[in-house]
Amino acid sequence: MGKIKKIGVLTSGGDAPGMNAAIRAVVRATVNYEFEAVGIYQGYEGLIKGDFKPMDSRSVSNIINRGGTILKTARSKEFRTKRGREKAFKNIQKAGIDALVIIGGDGSFTGASVFEQEYGIPCIGIPGTIDNDINGTDYTIGFDTAVNTVIQAVDKIRDTASSHNRFFFIEVMGRDSGYIAMYSGIACGAEKILIPELEGEFESLIATLKAGRERKKTSNIVIVAEGDQEGGAYKIAEKTRKEFPEFDVKVTVLGHVQRGGSPSYFDRVLATRMGVKAVELLMLGRSGVMIGMKNNTMVTTTLKDAIKQHPSLNPELLKVATISAT
Ligand code: F6P
Repeated sequence: MGKIKKIGVLTSGGDAPGMNAAIRAVVRATVNYEFEAVGIYQGYEGLIKGDFKPMDSRSVSNIINRGGTILKTARSKEFRTKRGREKAFKNIQKAGIDALVIIGGDGSFTGASVFEQEYGIPCIGIPGTIDNDINGTDYTIGFDTAVNTVIQAVDKIRDTASSHNRFFFIEVMGRDSGYIAMYSGIACGAEKILIPELEGEFESLIATLKAGRERKKTSNIVIVAEGDQEGGAYKIAEKTRKEFPEFDVKVTVLGHVQRGGSPSYFDRVLATRMGVKAVELLMLGRSGVMIGMKNNTMVTTTLKDAIKQHPSLNPELLKVATISAT
């Protein structure tokens, strides 16, 4: 591997609060260590189109507090093809980019891993997704902010739920992952949390709600991850209405509101640490790895291991959620 002079940075997949803080840190570290930084627009789409822009320290001023990503993002179908990756490589060569920092989730790291193997371009991954579903890190950038956004919304819904004696089913993001549901459910004191990782939860939900009715509970908050095995909040609400016709059952889908907003302190610090580390790893000649945070320390995992399987939910969390809801 030759000496690195120019580092390209891109954001890919679903945006997450804190991605801008990560971009800023990558650019500032690149400048600090006297390399050149190049921003790549719209993730891998920008690589394929050659949509690049040189970045200096000032180009990332005033973004640490902003949600979204100034580099834009996309889920590129073309990059999944050999032809697409070939176009990307040609553009990288033409622009003199020696290495890439990819901020994204598992789909983004799959692309990075294949690209790195095919063309030998050093790639470092930074986990940026609200889902927290990447192996090799305790937290991904954006998760903390998203959970805080959910908490604010659910607290408001609780006011109206208790005033009207209503059952609320609140759907949160997480197509394949119950992290947002689990953390926000515990933090909001939800009666039940339904997640994609667990099967046959409907019976247990009904049992919980019946037990609550016996204890004279008049309102209930149930958090449902969008990918739960019962088919989402609307379906579950429908089935629950049949079991409890006397109750006023409502559904709120929080949707993309969870992806926006100013990042929390936690996501800003995490993103900044990971961004600096990415550049330092490239300086050490590392490639094909993702930076993670374990026990408050920056660690690395190969991109392949990072995407191999989703981290399983800590069983202690499941237990705590059940005990604290009774
Ligand atoms: O991966 C992050 C995520 O927010 C998931 O939780 C959600 O299922 C998905 O993205 C939604 O993607 P899109 O914005 O493309 O609809």
